Amino acid sequence: MEKRAVRGMHDIFGDEITLWVAVENKMKEILGFFGYREIRTPMVEKIEVFSETIGDATDIVEKQMYRIEAEDGVMVLRPEGTAPFVRAVMEHGLFAKGSAERYFYSGPMFRHERPQKGRLRQFHQIGAEIINDNTPESDAELITLLQHLFQGVGIINFTTRINSVGCATCRPVYKEKLRAFLQPQLNELCPECQKRFERSALRILDCKVPACKATVAPAPKAVDCLCEECRLHHERLKQCLGLIGVKAIDDPTIVRGLDYYMRTAFEITSDDLGAQNALGGGGRYDGVSLRFGKQNVPAVGFALGMERVLIAVKAAQVATPKSTSPQYFFAPVGEKAFSYLFQLSFSMKRKGICVEMLYDKEKSLKALLKVADRTQAAFTVILGDNEIAANKALIKEMSSHQQEETALASLEETLLRKVSRET
Ligand code: HAM
Repeated sequence: MEKRAVRGMHDIFGDEITLWVAVENKMKEILGFFGYREIRTPMVEKIEVFSETIGDATDIVEKQMYRIEAEDGVMVLRPEGTAPFVRAVMEHGLFAKGSAERYFYSGPMFRHERPQKGRLRQFHQIGAEIINDNTPESDAELITLLQHLFQGVGIINFTTRINSVGCATCRPVYKEKLRAFLQPQLNELCPECQKRFERSALRILDCKVPACKATVAPAPKAVDCLCEECRLHHERLKQCLGLIGVKAIDDPTIVRGLDYYMRTAFEITSDDLGAQNALGGGGRYDGVSLRFGKQNVPAVGFALGMERVLIAVKAAQVATPKSTSPQYFFAPVGEKAFSYLFQLSFSMKRKGICVEMLYDKEKSLKALLKVADRTQAAFTVILGDNEIAANKALIKEMSSHQQEETALASLEETLLRKVSRET
């Protein structure tokens, strides 16, 4: 059997997981301050949850979902968190209070994409959503929150872009205008965009192929074709961002790869990421709730990609936490010394002190000290059967190599005192 993880899916360990947990905890703390409560949905959903919300003509639904053929129907590993969130909101009547509610989620998502730097097949998102609120103020809150999450973990090098993709009234009119503009130049578009022309013309706007970019540069902009309500919504959003002091660029190419958006769409990118430069993105998706029930629950939200955030955090060169090293390494030489320190190690662990020792009794003192060095313990306690007979133990400070002798009877007390002085 090939001993490798599935392509595009990674094990996370060592300093990486330490940094990951620190970033995640910081972000969860910020989400708490902003009034968002956690929701956890299953990793597997019925296929319709996504096909009827994200859209049949999107890359995700067309070719990126991992399917599970089960007895009770076709299910998929979730490619994103918003559609399952709305399913849960409708299933449990979370909209019933009628006023704005804030939720966040975090966890793995699955898309069968071509793996590259910052693009995985199993990746992790933190997402935040507001339901029961159709105001531009809530869109502004989420854009501000997304920026604040990045700043909170030391990322300052990013750009925020916003757009309005209109609504069911004005978008069809815009799409027709765009198609009319592109029709005579179809041959200049990449093969993928030529396919998109009929089914998802808006996606041509965010194609990264230089020829397509050049072709769409003078295309009509969605923001110039908005109905009055959408126009006012977009204007007020910009006003709110100004009030909060949040910088965002109006960018007509922000159309997003999911069909459920209406009005506001936004994305935050970083130059530290390479080709996959979106740290996070989102938008308004009023109307999606009607796919799951009778109630129309307006909603807006975003998701950020943890793997990309970690790349940006490392590039920002902020002090990043490393895996913690033990406070003590115990190095017993001889059977009696081993039993003594074995028992003491648990007594100290129960008091919250990080102690490591090897259970291999054959190792020489020299070999044990090598391991102690590797664990980066602050101190090593050296105890031989002779020391036990003489009622003493040695404590070695690993950074200075200084050793001190201490009475065995009060060893635990001495060790506890030492670390309480340090912290
Ligand atoms: P999305 O733009 O598809 O939006 O994904 C959000 C973020 O997830 C991206 O900006 C990126 O950082 C990360 N991401 C996406 N695909 C991958 C991948 N293959 N590998 C690594 N990272 C990836 C959504 O998922 C929407 N549900 C966001 C949303 C929430 N809209 C409203 N509410």
